Amino acid sequence: MAFFHFNRKQRLLLIAYAILFFFLLLLCRFWSLRDPGSLFFEATEGYRPKYSLARIQESLDYLTVYNQSGATYPYPPIEYQPPRDKAACVGIVTVKRPLQQNLATTVASIQDTLTPEQRRALSIQVLFALSDPTEHPDYNQTWLSTIVDHVNTYETVDAPHVTIASLEKKKDIKRKSLLDYRLGLQACYDGSDAPWIVMLEDDVVAQRNWYEHTMQSVRRIEEARQHGQLQDWLYVRLFYTEKFLGWNSESWPVYLFWSALTVAIVAWVALAARRRIRAAQPVLTNPFLLVLCFLCVPALIGLFFMTGRVTWFPMEPGVHVMNSHGCCSQALLYNRAHVPELLRFLAEREDKTPTKAVDTVIEMLAGKEGLERLAISPSQMQHVGAASYKEKKKKWEWEGPYRIKGAHGVWSMGFETAYTQQGSYRWFDM
Ligand SMILES: *[C@@H]1O[C@H](CO)[C@@H](O)[C@H](O)[C@H]1NC(C)=O
Ligand SMILES: *[C@@H]1O[C@H](CO)[C@@H](O)[C@H](O)[C@H]1NC(C)=O
Repeated sequence: MAFFHFNRKQRLLLIAYAILFFFLLLLCRFWSLRDPGSLFFEATEGYRPKYSLARIQESLDYLTVYNQSGATYPYPPIEYQPPRDKAACVGIVTVKRPLQQNLATTVASIQDTLTPEQRRALSIQVLFALSDPTEHPDYNQTWLSTIVDHVNTYETVDAPHVTIASLEKKKDIKRKSLLDYRLGLQACYDGSDAPWIVMLEDDVVAQRNWYEHTMQSVRRIEEARQHGQLQDWLYVRLFYTEKFLGWNSESWPVYLFWSALTVAIVAWVALAARRRIRAAQPVLTNPFLLVLCFLCVPALIGLFFMTGRVTWFPMEPGVHVMNSHGCCSQALLYNRAHVPELLRFLAEREDKTPTKAVDTVIEMLAGKEGLERLAISPSQMQHVGAASYKEKKKKWEWEGPYRIKGAHGVWSMGFETAYTQQGSYRWFDM
């Protein structure tokens, strides 16, 4: 056994290393349980709805009040016409979903914490993207007409009925999503002159302070742009998942470089120590250096990568440029100036094959026009939809331990920890 070829000191050092490594392994595992880019990721921890669950309940409690006929809503939309001086239009496109509808949560959670002024500055529009909107379980709920400014259907927006009927028949959900997204965006664009247009999917929940936080961020973004620190931008992401922010395979040369550099530095330091320090000479023998450089150090580097990038380098709270690996289109705030281009581009892509997903098309336009894509960290919204008909399944069932979860792991871990009281032990947070 090679191990016994080493002298006593060397053996002790190797044993000490093994013990240390074991503890580091436990520590890293504990740190990165919730990091989807980590090898130690555990779904039960990662998808635990620590904040969303309470937030959903809170917003539904608010909604219940307006779910009774005759309830008076303090901000009836008609009184705040014309739609000038709106700060933002919120457009929500809703479809029928398997298992559960979350539209009520979405609509309630974006307004239940607003001050009257803030609520008046918002125009909330919901588009029912079904040829027969009455098939949608929420379509004639009492709360809908009470707390939403405009309830749109294909009849009230300028929709290509024949195309839609054929897409519905063919169950071409991807192409129909493109069309629906465009119609929802257009409705918001035409329906108000708000400088910001927030497009939400019908299965997100907003954090309590989302409005203030988002508006402050946008003001800061615009200041930065006016001072030339930032280029023109297409959207600000109010939701992102950490899932795609891990180590990227295309960056392997960078990772390899740093790994090799680390090994080289350790080797260099060890060799220098052997030359300079007499006492180190019997320890730092050639076989020992081989083990050190090609076993011990690489194992630590491996542990570093296994632990996941987001755990080591969490995103600072604030606004970030996220021109790549940002996913998905659950909640985006658009700069009104670029919405006409986007509308044109979406319309153009609707007829093209292969059909691209909405978020891909948005990225294509941003790339083509050289527009920045920004993100607010931590996420202001969470994706709580459990399922969508985009997945082609025969049978729909609840899976996993939680009813609240982003389908396909489209989930923000940061959202769950950022807004809870326990957020104080940030060291373990992502
Ligand atoms: C609103 O009321 C209707 C009818 O009473 C009920 O079926 C529905 O679940 C309620 N919705 C919410 C979100 O409370
Ligand atoms: C929804 O509409 C149908 C048909 O108009 C009506 O029978 C039903 O009572 C309505 N439901 C609610 C909750 O308003």
